[in-house]
Amino acid sequence: MTDFLVIGSGIAGLYYALSVAAHGKVTIITKRDRGDSNTKYAQGGIAAVMAGNDSFESHVQDTLISGDGLCHETIVRSIIQEGPERVRQLIDWGVRFSKGETNSFDLGREGGHTHRRILHAGDATGNAIETALLTELENHPNITILDHHVAVDLITERHTHSTTDSPTCYGAYVLNTRSNEVLTIPAKVTLLATGGAGKVYLYTTNPDIASGDGMAMAWRAGAQVSNLEFVQFHPTCLYNPLSQDEHGKTFLISEAVRGEGGILRLKSGEAFMHNYDSRGDLATRDITARAIDQELKKSGEACVYLDITHKPRDFLQKRFPTIYNTCAQFGIDITTQPIPVVPAAHYFCGGVVTDQTGATSVCNLFAAGEVACTGLHGANRLASNSLLEAVVMAHRAAQNSITYLNNKIPSLPDWNSGPATTADEQVVIAHNWDEIRRLMWNYVGIVRTNKRLQRAATRIQALRDEVREFYWQTCVTSDLIELRNLATVAKLVIDCAIARKESRGLHYTLDHPHKSNEQVKDTVIAGRASKPSRQ
Ligand code: FAD
Ligand code: SIN
Repeated sequence: MTDFLVIGSGIAGLYYALSVAAHGKVTIITKRDRGDSNTKYAQGGIAAVMAGNDSFESHVQDTLISGDGLCHETIVRSIIQEGPERVRQLIDWGVRFSKGETNSFDLGREGGHTHRRILHAGDATGNAIETALLTELENHPNITILDHHVAVDLITERHTHSTTDSPTCYGAYVLNTRSNEVLTIPAKVTLLATGGAGKVYLYTTNPDIASGDGMAMAWRAGAQVSNLEFVQFHPTCLYNPLSQDEHGKTFLISEAVRGEGGILRLKSGEAFMHNYDSRGDLATRDITARAIDQELKKSGEACVYLDITHKPRDFLQKRFPTIYNTCAQFGIDITTQPIPVVPAAHYFCGGVVTDQTGATSVCNLFAAGEVACTGLHGANRLASNSLLEAVVMAHRAAQNSITYLNNKIPSLPDWNSGPATTADEQVVIAHNWDEIRRLMWNYVGIVRTNKRLQRAATRIQALRDEVREFYWQTCVTSDLIELRNLATVAKLVIDCAIARKESRGLHYTLDHPHKSNEQVKDTVIAGRASKPSRQ
C-alpha cells in the first residue's frame, strides 16, 4: 500500500513525485529502466516567457493560433503564466539550461513562435531534465522506484464489492517483468504519467515505451478520453533507412534547426514553404508536415531536405551537437550538406481528459504529461509546449493529490491468471503489432479520407477481437500488455477521426477539407471494456 502511486518516470511522473514526497509514501513504477521515456529524447526545449521583450499574451496568442480554434483559452492562459515558476523549480532541482555570453538564457525559437522563448540544454534538453530529476529523487526516503514494472490495469470499484456507481481508482495491477509476478499495488491516489502512443504508427520519433498504456487503461477504467484524432507528425525526421531501428524509430532533427534559420528544400534546391504559409519555414507543424507530404506525393521523391549549411560550422557544432554527431554517423555533414528529412508520428495532442488540477473523470485518478488532454494544445500543439504542460500539470496534480490522504481503500482481490497459459505463439503478438502500426500509418496518417478511416475501423475491430481472445487465454507479458493497449488506442484514434467531419489542425481529410463552425468542440469518448482485468 502506498499513498501516491505514480505510473511512469518521465518529466511528469518525476516532477509530481518530487512535489508530493514531503506528504506521504510515493511509489513510482516504470516499465523499463527508469530513464526510458519520451522525455529523455526531447531536443528543442521547454517554452516559457523568460525574456524582457516577450510577453504572456504573445505566447498565449501563438498557442491559440497553433491550436487552430480548439484550445481552451482559460487553461492556455493559466499554464503559460505558471510556466516561469515551474522552470525555476526545474533549475532548483539541478537542470542546467544553456546560457549565452551575457549569462542570460540562450532562448531558442521554433515553428509557430513569434519570439525566442525556448529554454534548452544544447539539443539534448530532455536528457538534461530527466537526469537532473532522477538525481534529485535518488535516496529520497519517501520515494521508491520500481524499474521493469508494467502497469497492466488500474484497479477500480468493479474489482471490489463497492456499491459506488462512480468510476473510482484504488491502485493498479503491475507486472514485474523480471519475476513475471503480477503485484497488487493499492494506493490512495494514482497518477498516470505514462506518456504518449507514437508506437501505434509504423514510423515514429518515440522510443519503444510509447504504447499508449495510460490512455488505454484509463479508458478501460471508465475515464473520458478526447481529441485523439490530433496526432502530430513531426515534419523533420532524418531520412535514411539505416537511421531507423528495427521498430521504425526515427531520429528527430529538432525544429530548433528551422528556428535558427534552416530552410526546407526540394531535391532541386527550391525552397517551398512560402508556397504554403506566409511564415515560411517557421510555420506550425501541422502545415509543415502536410506541405512536405504534398511535395513528396507530387514529386515521387523519398524525402525533402533541411538546409542549415549557411550557418558557421562552430555554431552548428555547439548548438546542435547531438544532431551534428548523429548525422555524421550516417555520413551527413550538416555544415556542408542539406539533411534528408521526412515526417513521422511524434506527439498525441489528445488523451485522458483532465480538469485544470489534473483530475480525471475517475475518482482518485490524476493524469499529467502527454497522456493527458487538458485543452492546452487544441488541434495542434505549439512546439515545446509539451514539457511546459507536463511540469505545470504535474505540480497542480500534486497540490490536489495531497488533499486525498484520508482516502480509505477497500480490500482488493489479488490478480488471478485463471486458465491462462504461457503463449507458445509469441510470433502472433509481433505480427498483430506490425499490422496495427502499418494500418495506422497507411490509413490514419497525415491525410485521411472517409473510406480509409472506415477500412481502418473494420480491420482494427478484427484485430482487437483476436488480441482480446489471446489476452484472456495467455499469461500476461510486457509485449502482450502493449499490444492490447496499442490496439485500443488505435481504435480510439480511428473513432475520434471518424467523428470529426472537418479538417482542422492535425486532422486533415480530403472528404471534408475545410473547417466547420459546428465542429468547434472536443471529440470526447467515454468508455469502459465489457469485463475488468482478471482478479
Ligand atoms: P514520458 O516522458 O514518455 O514518460 C512516460 C513514462 O511512463 C516512461 O517512464 C514509461 O516507461 C512509463 N510507462 C508507460 N507505460 C507504462 C506502464 N504500463 N507501466 C509502467 N510505466 C509505464 N516536447 C517539448 O515540449 N519540447 C521538446 O523539445 C520535445 N522534443 C521531443 C523530441 C522527441 C524525440 C520526442 C519523442 C518528443 C519530444 N517532445 C518534446 C515531446 C515530449 O518529450 C513528451 O511529450 C514528454 O516528454 C512526455 O513526458 P511524460 O512524462 O508525459 O511521458
Ligand atoms: C523538436 O525539438 O523539434 C521537438 C520539439 C517538440 O516536440 O516540442
